[in-house]
Amino acid sequence: MLERIHKFLEEYAPEGIPFPGTRSYTLFAKSRFMRDFYRQVASEVAVEFRQGKILDVGTGPGYLPIEIARLAPGVEVIGIDISSDMVKIARRNAEKANLSSRVKFMVEDANKMSFEDSSFDLIVSTGSLHHWKKPLHVINEIYRVLKDGGQAWIYDLRRDVSENVIVKKLGEYKYGKMISLILYNAVKAHSSITLHEVLNMLEDEENRFKQYRIEENRHSYPVLKIRLLKS
Ligand SMILES: C[S@@+](CC[C@H](N)C(=O)[O-])C[C@H]1O[C@@H](n2cnc3c(N)ncnc32)[C@H](O)[C@@H]1O
Repeated sequence: MLERIHKFLEEYAPEGIPFPGTRSYTLFAKSRFMRDFYRQVASEVAVEFRQGKILDVGTGPGYLPIEIARLAPGVEVIGIDISSDMVKIARRNAEKANLSSRVKFMVEDANKMSFEDSSFDLIVSTGSLHHWKKPLHVINEIYRVLKDGGQAWIYDLRRDVSENVIVKKLGEYKYGKMISLILYNAVKAHSSITLHEVLNMLEDEENRFKQYRIEENRHSYPVLKIRLLKS
């Protein structure tokens, strides 16, 4: 049943999150475990990138770029989203955090970005890949705007995850068991990818990234991290 819902949404859901979904997603993104997830990703970024230009693709309410700018004072971060309401929310969040000078948000479609070739040192993306109708097309667009030697880190939730893993990861949070159950079903129905789908995409001869590595289950959230290197 959930697989059927997944197929239906894959075909008919819009690529971006429109209003008022933007508002309910923002509430979800404010939860403690999501904030922990952004902090974990931002720490990974700050360990390897102390300066330079970073792009966040499908930034949503912009919490990840804001967290990166906090932890790495030498970087400039641009967050893009196809949804203009998400960009409005993200700009407001950056202003509240007093980081608008180093964190900018733009309405952009990741399928065809307005940036010049080789513009960014690092490109990150969390929870957006499963929205892309043509994921490989976006991956190759990311390749284009990445500098030579630069990396792209794409994180997304796994659909092929067991309920136990989600419960174990979220169990320590308040209402963790209830959240795990909702998340598990939501993930199965929509917000996710499988390892097999990711490998198929990366092995496609059209993929311009010839070097990649996949990391699993290292975060407070059951995600796959795809590390892509532009050599
Ligand atoms: C589930 S949200 C994740 C938001 C944020 N990265 C986070 O982790 O909270 C996915 C976001 O990707 C955006 N998105 C989907 N397709 C896109 C595209 N082609 N170009 C830019 N943004 C896109 C959606 O509008 C939405 O804000």
